[in-house]
Amino acid sequence: DAEKLAARERIKALLKEHNAVLVAHYYTDPEIQALAEETGGCVADSLEMARFGAQHEADTLIVAGVKFMGETAKILTPNKRVLMPTLEATCSLDLGCPPEEFSAFCDKHPEHTVVVYANTSAAVKARADWVVTSSIALDVVEHLDSQGEKILWAPDKHLGDYINKQTGADMVLWDAACIVHDEFKSRALVQLKEQHPDAAVLVHPESPAAIVELADAVGSTSQLIKASQELPHEKFIVATDKGIFYKMQQLSPEKTFLEAPTGGDGATCRSCAHCPWMAMNGLAAIEQALSSDGKAHEIHVDAALAEKALKPLDRMLNFSV
Ligand code: 13P
Ligand code: SF4
Repeated sequence: DAEKLAARERIKALLKEHNAVLVAHYYTDPEIQALAEETGGCVADSLEMARFGAQHEADTLIVAGVKFMGETAKILTPNKRVLMPTLEATCSLDLGCPPEEFSAFCDKHPEHTVVVYANTSAAVKARADWVVTSSIALDVVEHLDSQGEKILWAPDKHLGDYINKQTGADMVLWDAACIVHDEFKSRALVQLKEQHPDAAVLVHPESPAAIVELADAVGSTSQLIKASQELPHEKFIVATDKGIFYKMQQLSPEKTFLEAPTGGDGATCRSCAHCPWMAMNGLAAIEQALSSDGKAHEIHVDAALAEKALKPLDRMLNFSV
């Protein structure tokens, strides 16, 4: 509508004025992804977002996603101003892994190499040997296992369980989950598959094992998008946040994408397969972040923590090159 169009134009002008670039995750709403694409920013998975922000020459990054993505950007480029549409956009995995309890867990397993998912606070990353995203988690653990290392994995128990089964590595797992992916229901998915026997099932590994077992492809957001282009199927059932449909449909307009069933019945859960924190990234919030003096939107990371968290983050970026 007219107001949205006007807001987009104002944001474009603000991005230029601040020499800022918009970095958006595939789970943000379609209008945010479209704006990032149109303005020379990026729409990406969490690993590519980190890499894009670290390499871009803009003075200001505006990160549309959740808090750990903004913190990662700040740790990798402390001289840039990193803004987020809202600092309230957290992640249930970050919430489910409080730094002090995590540190005590690490102390209990001193002989383990600590591998944490990017969906964590700077303080948790500061305690880690490695940070990984779902794009490279399997490869990193496989590598560490081949060196004979035991692994402490946190925080996502489903992703940890999946990697453990795939690699056979010696792993202890933290117990947390993504509230979005945890909602997918296997019995309903089997029924949907029966109704659409020609569909391939695409699953993000933050989903429970019973969902992963029904998958034709398992992977990070970018890997699932790739699978939607490369598999010969015309129809897909997708078990991840529905924000991803924008890019899948854009790349394959002729294909059909169906949402994997969740526990919600429409009355109790309007859109279970959409992260409530990703949904906070609206146009108005982006405009506000760029218009104000930025204080209420700017990411700051404690310098000592940032210095420690940089090491495992650098390992991640260097490993995946
Ligand atoms: P990706 O690294 O696959 O983009 O996943 C991030 C995330 O938060 C998934 O829920
Ligand atoms: Fe966190 Fe899940 Fe939201 Fe991803 S979808 S940001 S893992 S709560």
